Amino acid sequence: MDLTALAKEHGTPLYVYSAEQIRYRLELFEGAFSGRAHTICYAVKANSSLAILKLLADAGAGFDIVSGGELERVRRASKAALKRVVFSGVGKQVWEIDAALKAGILLFNVESEAELSLLAERAKLAGVKARFALRVNPDVFAETHPYISTGLRDHKFGIAIGEARRIYRAAKKMGSLDAAGVSVHIGSQIRQVEPFGAALGRVLGLVKELREDGHSIRYVDAGGGLGIDYGMDASAVFDPAGQVERYAAALLAVMGDEGAHLLLEPGRFLVAQAGALVSRILFVKKNGTKTFVVTDAGMNDLIRPALYQAHHEIVPVKQPSGASEAVDIVGPVCESGDFFARDRVMPKVKVGDLVAVLDAGAYGMSLASNYNTRGRPAEVLVDGDRCDVIRRRETVKDMLALERMPG
Ligand code: LLP
Repeated sequence: MDLTALAKEHGTPLYVYSAEQIRYRLELFEGAFSGRAHTICYAVKANSSLAILKLLADAGAGFDIVSGGELERVRRASKAALKRVVFSGVGKQVWEIDAALKAGILLFNVESEAELSLLAERAKLAGVKARFALRVNPDVFAETHPYISTGLRDHKFGIAIGEARRIYRAAKKMGSLDAAGVSVHIGSQIRQVEPFGAALGRVLGLVKELREDGHSIRYVDAGGGLGIDYGMDASAVFDPAGQVERYAAALLAVMGDEGAHLLLEPGRFLVAQAGALVSRILFVKKNGTKTFVVTDAGMNDLIRPALYQAHHEIVPVKQPSGASEAVDIVGPVCESGDFFARDRVMPKVKVGDLVAVLDAGAYGMSLASNYNTRGRPAEVLVDGDRCDVIRRRETVKDMLALERMPG
């Protein structure tokens, strides 16, 4: 699709997604695990667009949700997919647990003893048995940004693996619970596959013990976290097919002939590289020795560079023929942290040109905000030769609609 035409028709900043690429990524995952019983539960938080959820549900995916809001998104996208939902998160509320019980989801990934008691109580009231897995903390270190690493003992997530056996035993006494699985998630944007294997190995050790204790563990949830190539490391060549093959091999090697149904929660891997944020250059200014390219997209539209010093490749939509120069690509938001790239050498661009921030399909729009009272971008989904607006641009009226003057 011609991004210039799309930008003209729909305005900028604009998120553009490729349906084909998302389907392809899901197929890679499905193919790599086809030899065993498994369900891919896409992590809705990565990109929560209803259209993308529907596309994935139609292709057979399940979902990993972390809120009642995300549950409602899955319901709207596909009622049939509700039975393929796992519910993660350290702070589930009563209404969210009740809604998930009512929807008949597959599994609650429970992150504390207090949450387990609450789940037991709500299930009893509803007259149902809640299938749960404890999310255990295997204390495996995985190289990633500290903000998105989760598998260590001192993190807020999960329950120390050494505590798990005792808690499962206690759960057995509560009639409304079904100890159906064990789950783990060690972090996000993890590019080595070994930590996934190490974590799963520890989980399987626990599964064996739990079975000896008489629990019928049928599900092993290996979490998400498989990293993608954002292009900052030229020496690492990551073809997505090879990456998912290595990941599957690492997990399947430790699974051995363990018969449990494997759950996987990829988010970023399925959608990141299917999306770009297209933005128009408002100004080019020089301050001191630096050249700043000011785009109409800002940190409120894509916060990853500001929050994690994340690298995103940025390319001019039309390759200009001139020389390259080192520039800072910055947004209009009133914060020095509002940048997409610093000292980035790229072809010389000018006011009015379009640039595409690549690999923006995951944790882009889903983390967007109205900071500086800026409306969130429109989103379009390209599928073959069709292109649909899947979310219209947010207006000032939309942003003010919930507010009231006192008195
Ligand atoms: N499962 C659980 C329990 C999670 O907490 C997450 C992500 C996933 C699955 C999916 O992980 P993925 O496959 O996408 O790596 N905003 C950050 C990423 C935060 C990840 C939070 N949890 C970023 O932009 O890099």
